[in-house]
Amino acid sequence: MDTKGNSNCRISELQDESKIGTKVSLSGWVRTRRDSKEVSFLVVNDGSDVQGLQVVIDSDIEGFAEASSHCKNGAAVCITGTLVESPGKGQKVELQAESFELVGGCIAEDYPLQKKRHTNEFLRTIPHLRPRTNTFGAAFRIRSEASFAIHSFFNQEGFSYIHTPIITTSDCEGAGKMFQVTTLNQDNIPKLDSKKVDYSKDFFGQEAHLTVSGQLEAEMFACSLKKAYTFGPVFRAENSNTPRHLAEFWMVEPEMAFCDLAGNMEVAERFIKFTIGHVLEKCQSDMAFFNQWVEKGIVDSLESVVTADFARITYDEAIKVLEKSKQKFEFPVAWGNDLQTEHERYLTEEHIKGPVFVTNYPTEIKAFYMYLDEGEKTVSAMDLLVPRLGEIIGGSMREHREDILLKQLDKFNVPREHIEWYLDLRKYGTNPHSGFGLGFERLVMYLTGLKNIRDVIPCPRTPGNASI
Ligand code: 4AD
Ligand code: MG
Repeated sequence: MDTKGNSNCRISELQDESKIGTKVSLSGWVRTRRDSKEVSFLVVNDGSDVQGLQVVIDSDIEGFAEASSHCKNGAAVCITGTLVESPGKGQKVELQAESFELVGGCIAEDYPLQKKRHTNEFLRTIPHLRPRTNTFGAAFRIRSEASFAIHSFFNQEGFSYIHTPIITTSDCEGAGKMFQVTTLNQDNIPKLDSKKVDYSKDFFGQEAHLTVSGQLEAEMFACSLKKAYTFGPVFRAENSNTPRHLAEFWMVEPEMAFCDLAGNMEVAERFIKFTIGHVLEKCQSDMAFFNQWVEKGIVDSLESVVTADFARITYDEAIKVLEKSKQKFEFPVAWGNDLQTEHERYLTEEHIKGPVFVTNYPTEIKAFYMYLDEGEKTVSAMDLLVPRLGEIIGGSMREHREDILLKQLDKFNVPREHIEWYLDLRKYGTNPHSGFGLGFERLVMYLTGLKNIRDVIPCPRTPGNASI
């Protein structure tokens, strides 16, 4: 409904010639304005599509003359009129206005979004306005559609959606990169005789943090509902100022009982293909925009991912490939070292030339909960690497054997008292199970071709930055 009670059209639904002759009412924001003697031409964008609609306003339309000086780029408007064939180039249809309402004027000459190409760096300084640009409008429509696809996929595969907690007392990744949650007065922290903080006085009566992953709690539900997933925000206090890391990001984490590493990879492969396929189908004009302006050829390359078979190689093989390559790497390649982005990109872009699962990583560089392979040198882990990004998914078969898990907890210095409940799942009816985590922003980068993770999340949180 617009402010006059007319039902509102979405510009995305008006772009084809079959609509010519219909009376429509729309609302949105002026992108550009051009005047000739008797007529003003506005391009209005309503957020439904990367394309705006050209609106032709004769100077005698009621209200326009008075409002005219405030109806500049950025102004909010409601317009009713008839859709006509456009004589101009670049659009099939335009709206011949019959009534016009200026809802929120914008005369400011300093409106930050002028008609020119702004850099993404500049737009990051105005996160409240950047969704009004083509690039960010398209990116956030794609983000939304991808999110919908993810829920559809798991729903149709019989998974239950579990809302795992944000506040937790366990460190899933055991990497000590957690943000603390406390209500203790920071200017007067209660201390024990040992000079350590007295957390019995804190809100939860113990030390608490923001979660780095919902996996452990998803495991509770896999070990009861069989297939469960969580999709929510996670937090990492890692001081990595890279184009691929955020301090707050969204993760999709399915967990499946009675499932081994091969089964885990099958689900991950189907899941990625489904999500990409859905976005390609539902976001055609946004994807065409990214194909033209951001990453040439991205549509073809994503289409080929949907039909390709993802490769699978072991970490051992990956190290051999990297050692044999003629590429100069910044970080050393050696068995036992974690793969860095440059190594991952070489494997997926140069060696495989498509998505690849790398499996069975050395025990020491992975987390305590991963299933220990025979020989104990490696764990049944898998990372999915994709061109342009490197790691997009990390997952594993979980250690379901209580005795081995206990040893691993000690080896990784994980205090048992924090995860007694996790051990119970191994004590009572334990079962092999597996799962993985997809970094949702990495997926949106992969879909759009955007190269900085700060550009695919509404309000990026990075070291030194949490203002809007
Ligand atoms: O590999 P990670 O750390 O795995 C886990 O957290 C497991 N608990 C997941 C599971 O098995 N349920 O993170 C999973 C994915 C990575 O592959 C990456 O795509 C993304 O999360 N990721 C980040 N994305 C943005 N910013 C960061 N700082 C990220 N760290 C990881
Ligand atoms: Mg990982």
